[in-house]
Amino acid sequence: MNILTHFSEEHRQIAQGLTVLNVICNQMLKKNSPSQADMENLFYFFRTFVEENHHGSEEDILFNKAGDLDMVREGGPMCTAFMGHRMEFDLVGRASHRLQGYQYSTTEKSKKDILQKLYTKNHPLIMPLEEHLISTDLLNALEKEKDPEKFYMLAQDYISITESHSRKEDECLFVLLSQLFTLAQLEQMYQEYLERKNRPDGRVEKALQILNELSLKYKRS
Ligand SMILES: [Fe+2]
Ligand SMILES: [Fe+2]
Repeated sequence: MNILTHFSEEHRQIAQGLTVLNVICNQMLKKNSPSQADMENLFYFFRTFVEENHHGSEEDILFNKAGDLDMVREGGPMCTAFMGHRMEFDLVGRASHRLQGYQYSTTEKSKKDILQKLYTKNHPLIMPLEEHLISTDLLNALEKEKDPEKFYMLAQDYISITESHSRKEDECLFVLLSQLFTLAQLEQMYQEYLERKNRPDGRVEKALQILNELSLKYKRS
């Protein structure tokens, strides 16, 4: 297994979580609210599996190393898919606008060394990293939002950004990185990922267990 194929597999699990969120949103609009326990479990999945495990590992392991590659530094990931999508839909801009008025904080994440390092160099990898940050902001706002219609709008932003982010990584960034890193380097990064993931607390396994349970309960009709 190499890190890129593994991350692409995780994108499919993330998409499963987004389907659950979408089903819950539609039910809420019909005044059919999910139980408090299901909502807590869904947020546990997004926080633990998507934010901590997936985005965290991309940043700490893959982006950290990719940030030093000349081809990436010179603008590699700014492929047409990234730029075209950004200019056409401006999902991040729309979500930032919606988030005005919410109390949220990305400060802990923004303090990460990798972000500081890339920001100071005006590095192209800032683009996917900014999408990680806005996802965190949206989750923070979603967790506080009690109004079903506002919750729905925030959730649609979260779903759109996360779906397009995964697609751009699969179709552009990971394709480029698969050419720039050797297979041995990609396999080594997967080993680093396993060491990071296999912490004794079993949080990632619990998040995936939750995903399976919620997916059975909230199916797309
Ligand atoms: Fe990502
Ligand atoms: Fe990803």
